[in-house]
Amino acid sequence: MDKIRVGIVGAGNIARTAHLPAYRKMDDVELVGVADIKLERAEQAAKEFGIAKAYASIDEMLADCKLDYVDICVWTGAHAECAIKAARAGVNILGEKPMALNLEHALAMEQEIKRAGVKFMLAVPTRYSPQAMLLRQMVDEGKLGDIYYAKTSYTRRRGTPLGWFTDKARSGGGPVIDIGVHCIDRTWFLMGCPKPVRVSAATSSAIGNYQTKGVTRWRALDSDSTVFDTEDSACGQIRFENGACMLFEVSWALNAPEQSFTQVCGSKAGARMDPLVIYGEECGYLTDNTPTPGKNDMFHEEIRHFINCLRTGSEPCSNLEQAVQMQRILEGIYTSAKLGKEVEI
Ligand SMILES: NC(=O)c1ccc[n+]([C@@H]2O[C@H](COP(=O)([O-])OP(=O)(O)OC[C@H]3O[C@@H](n4cnc5c(N)ncnc54)[C@H](O)[C@@H]3O)[C@@H](O)[C@H]2O)c1
Repeated sequence: MDKIRVGIVGAGNIARTAHLPAYRKMDDVELVGVADIKLERAEQAAKEFGIAKAYASIDEMLADCKLDYVDICVWTGAHAECAIKAARAGVNILGEKPMALNLEHALAMEQEIKRAGVKFMLAVPTRYSPQAMLLRQMVDEGKLGDIYYAKTSYTRRRGTPLGWFTDKARSGGGPVIDIGVHCIDRTWFLMGCPKPVRVSAATSSAIGNYQTKGVTRWRALDSDSTVFDTEDSACGQIRFENGACMLFEVSWALNAPEQSFTQVCGSKAGARMDPLVIYGEECGYLTDNTPTPGKNDMFHEEIRHFINCLRTGSEPCSNLEQAVQMQRILEGIYTSAKLGKEVEI
């Protein structure tokens, strides 16, 4: 079996702590190159993870390497630029979440990816947990009936990431686009990805740049940014063409308990995760069933899924069309919050 040839762009935290360790466990993958605008960072990653060559730009890597796909791990503001360059070079793309800085960038990416006819998959790891995959299978098999209501929350009490994340020009926004994309996308996936039509949302930046002691925070390798112009919490409601509705709340900083869950309610049964519980009825009684699908390395699973799609020619689970729809939802949340009213997606 030929090895899949991968080039990484962005040798920061997510590449070093999640993607590269996952590739290390795959013997059918060859890490051909790694590029970062900070060349020493690419060189360090190449040394540590046994990557053949390090480059100071994606342009140099694309010109020098024959790649099956580029794995985009740069900060959000550079996703579109890297994806467009990869597409123009005829190379497939695995792109870290969120798809792009904003809808305009996402649509430009979509146009180039379609024109080039390359594959794109959005890296949204929480879709690839065993619980999520089992629950989606149950939804597909009709075990929950029609899903008409869902609720999701990803709230941190004090968990604002350090670095470019709080600089809107590079991140696109705060917890909505950073972690909301995880819980909203997972919930939408578990609802069967109905077409989003309207959104009503509110955002807040009431806590801002706090100095709370004794809390842990994600630190981007570029953590020297002092810009802080993003929201720190948000809530809202997304309506779908099939009549279903999703409530969400997300925060980097909120005076409330930390929580992370997805709940979907159908006409036959409901479910909540993590951990996974199925709320149903048996022999006339209410039941709370707890399937035991186990655990996995979600990053390994998502990357493995993309590689399988490249090998078989099948469509990725989190494909281009869904990535653009998710970006429309995120954009809708920000627009609604700004205008103070419900907006069409
Ligand atoms: N899936 C997850 O759970 C998860 C978690 C954290 C971050 N992320 C995503 O991963 C991405 C990177 O986040 P991070 O925390 O690793 O940030 P980081 O700052 O640690 O790393 C980003 C790297 O990209 C490089 N870079 C920026 N623009 C570039 C360009 N045009 N060409 C080449 N290199 C460039 C920077 O020099 C830096 O080394 C973001 O999009 C973020 O949303 C995903």
